[in-house]
Amino acid sequence: MTDQPRTSDSIRFVLNGKPVALAVRPDTTALDVIRNHAGLTGTKEGCAEGDCGACTVLLRRGEGPRQAANACIMTAAQLDGTELTTVEGLKQDGVLTPVQDAMASNGSSQCGFCTPGIVMALTGLLEKAADPEEEAIHDALAGNLCRCTGYRPIVEAAKTAAKAGVAAPSAAGLPEKQTEVSCGGSVLHQPETLDQLTALRAAYPDAVLLAGGTDLGVARADYHSDWDRIISTAQVGELRAIGETADAWTFGAAVTWEEILQAVRADYPSLATLIRRFGSTQIRAMGTVGGNIGTASPIGDGPPALIALGATITLASKAGGARTLPLEDFFLDYRKTELKPDEVIVSVTVPRPKAGEEFRVYKLSKRYDQDISTVCGAFWLATEGGKVTACRLAYGGMAAIPKRAKAMENKLLDRPLDRGSVSEAIEALSEDFSPLSDWRGSAAYRKKTAAALLHRLARDLAGEIVEVMAL
Ligand SMILES: Cc1cc2nc3c(=O)[nH]c(=O)nc-3n(C[C@H](O)[C@H](O)[C@H](O)COP(=O)(O)OP(=O)(O)OC[C@H]3O[C@@H](n4cnc5c(N)ncnc54)[C@H](O)[C@@H]3O)c2cc1C
Ligand code: FES
Ligand code: FES
Repeated sequence: MTDQPRTSDSIRFVLNGKPVALAVRPDTTALDVIRNHAGLTGTKEGCAEGDCGACTVLLRRGEGPRQAANACIMTAAQLDGTELTTVEGLKQDGVLTPVQDAMASNGSSQCGFCTPGIVMALTGLLEKAADPEEEAIHDALAGNLCRCTGYRPIVEAAKTAAKAGVAAPSAAGLPEKQTEVSCGGSVLHQPETLDQLTALRAAYPDAVLLAGGTDLGVARADYHSDWDRIISTAQVGELRAIGETADAWTFGAAVTWEEILQAVRADYPSLATLIRRFGSTQIRAMGTVGGNIGTASPIGDGPPALIALGATITLASKAGGARTLPLEDFFLDYRKTELKPDEVIVSVTVPRPKAGEEFRVYKLSKRYDQDISTVCGAFWLATEGGKVTACRLAYGGMAAIPKRAKAMENKLLDRPLDRGSVSEAIEALSEDFSPLSDWRGSAAYRKKTAAALLHRLARDLAGEIVEVMAL
């Protein structure tokens, strides 16, 4: 990192092993860059909203392995300084890779539209896990839809390729990221420190503050609005850091869900299971905790879990410095938060579990994978002598904001978690929530399932339910 600004009129990255500098607006979608600027049409567009996986590419950002990501909801801004591989870049010396070969010879492709995306998703998996469990193969494919072949031959192809062995190619030297790229009337800022970020935020409060782009990119994919100024958080050291003590983790706002999954897996298996159901591999590789909180969706999966865990959030601005508040106080009203126009989310601090505490989170969605919640219930309890001494129950999908159920909590305190206390807590649900009906679920469905989730907690903690935990 240098203090000298590095400015450019082009996005510089490594494309299929070769350094390129493309003079494109930073808000051009990566899919557009690949297909229309680089002329590589193997990467397909299906849904243009991150759901089908037809546009899957492999992206290397920094030192880690190549990761599957959706090009349709990514922008050129996110390519600068990275290594991008499209399906055209897989073959070496004209020889198919084991994944391509297995897909072709196992009858794993029919119309072929989904095939490049599936090849990229499986390559991303097998470069990280040489001999994955079948469950991991399904997980890697959760973000890829195939309308005609069916998944069994695709899963078989993955197993065949794993047996043949998939070697991860060594990283190409990444071009240095530019601190500013300006092209065609769109300007990208890539600050590296929190001070630089807050200074830019103060100077340009209306700029698009871009993290992983998995929310913002969906709106951008249809080009209905331009991003004339973008401030990326992806290079900011403080926002990319993960701090760990015996008592808590502090996740920088630009830490991805995949990184959080790895950090919390052992301590909070239930949280890990929730994160495993967060979008798809492609979405978790790019989507960040700060973006999930910043977007302030009432059905976002991170906030109810983090509120129940007693997380705090740190915000910062150039004028006001840093401030930390309980995450539950951050959300004010529908998509309204404590964040001031010149502020950014710096980090989220999540307590680690202590003896006598239990945490469970249950997500109800129309599909198990790759779907946001209809209702999400997150429950943290401390017990002593068989009685609940403290608790935080938080729900998503039940109000305009993710919110604690304080009336319900009161019914559980100083009592055992049993049929009686749970029934009384459920009777108090209407004091906490008046949910809306929408296409995901009616108000009646939401109330009924929110109650059922509390029953499930009691049965789960009594050992009557075997939770399916994350891989
Ligand atoms: C196919 C698909 C599946 C999805 N599945 C799920 C799911 O299962 N559960 C779920 O909860 N969500 C899901 N999402 C939504 C999305 O992936 C998450 O909300 C993700 O965490 C957003 O993070 P991001 O980094 O991509 O945010 P971005 O899109 O980059 O930003 C989102 C918002 O947060 C703001 N923001 C980002 N960083 C900061 C910061 N440091 N300070 C202040 N504001 C900031 C941005 O300005 C923007 O307003 C899905 C999205 C897609 C496309
Ligand atoms: S085109 Fe469907 S995920 Fe990108
Ligand atoms: S082979 Fe046709 S969509 Fe998968």
